[in-house]
Amino acid sequence: MKHYLQFTDFTADEYNYLFSRAAIIKGKFKSYEKYHPLADRTLAMIFEKASTRTRVSFEAGMYQLGGSVVHLTTGDSQLGRAEPIEDSARVISRMTDLVMIRTFGHDKIERFAEYSRVPVINGLTNEFHPCQIMADLFTYIEHRGSIAGKVVAWVGDGNNMANTWLQAADLLGFTVHVSTPGGYEVDEKLAFGGKPHRAGCYKVFADPMDACRGADLVTTDVWTSMGYEAENEARRKAFADWCVDAEMMAVAKPDALFMHCLPAHRGEEVMADVIDGPQSVVWDEAENRMHVQKALMEYLLLGRV
Ligand code: CP
Ligand code: NVA
Repeated sequence: MKHYLQFTDFTADEYNYLFSRAAIIKGKFKSYEKYHPLADRTLAMIFEKASTRTRVSFEAGMYQLGGSVVHLTTGDSQLGRAEPIEDSARVISRMTDLVMIRTFGHDKIERFAEYSRVPVINGLTNEFHPCQIMADLFTYIEHRGSIAGKVVAWVGDGNNMANTWLQAADLLGFTVHVSTPGGYEVDEKLAFGGKPHRAGCYKVFADPMDACRGADLVTTDVWTSMGYEAENEARRKAFADWCVDAEMMAVAKPDALFMHCLPAHRGEEVMADVIDGPQSVVWDEAENRMHVQKALMEYLLLGRV
């Protein structure tokens, strides 16, 4: 049994397989072809933080594969009344086939997985967001082909998305140019779990313009992630210069793409003319959450088909 808690849980070969399956599964969806390999299977989705894309993509995706879903939140389950995570895992995993969790500390999802009888998927923790990066990579490949050897500019917070980009760069052979304000740097020990990584899979730039120079893909995220709202005011000041604008896009490669995991704040981390402009692929990126996660659920439950 496999869990998907971090990007590093799969090999490059497994990602190649998943991207090819996602393309096939997307093709079936686009041509209204019924595909129900997960008939009678149930996905439990546990949300301890808000979500639009993750919920809709997993829920619609599971129904499209012939299965069904159970949706739980902290507020409407015993999780919010301090039932231990280990007990919740034992109970939920006896009645369902697959569990997706969005929560705060990554340790919580690890504890759940340890006590779960069924595969567990990370739908975002404070530290990682692997399903999003899988969708981003699939989107890049659809538009531009292989990402190996390419440069991804990360402009903004050294957060869950940044950590996961670093893991992906290490595994799939591309480079991340990271530019964060002082005090919000990526934590290499956290991103790589203290394990060795490929030298040069990421480079740090003080000036976000330098990070974007020559990039094949420019990407950013909110200044304040869920769970960090108390820091909002300090972050608004610290991140003022970390806004992806037309000038930053102009120093990237002429055919550079722009991505954002969404939700976005126009005028903060990205200007409207960039996110709504011709280089932006954010809507494909959002839609592809569903296609890659369908491939992921199929793989976790049925293996290679
Ligand atoms: N990108 C993403 O995970 O979006 P939601 O928070 O809406 O799920
Ligand atoms: N970094 C953001 C991503 C939201 C999808 C957060 O954790 O809130």
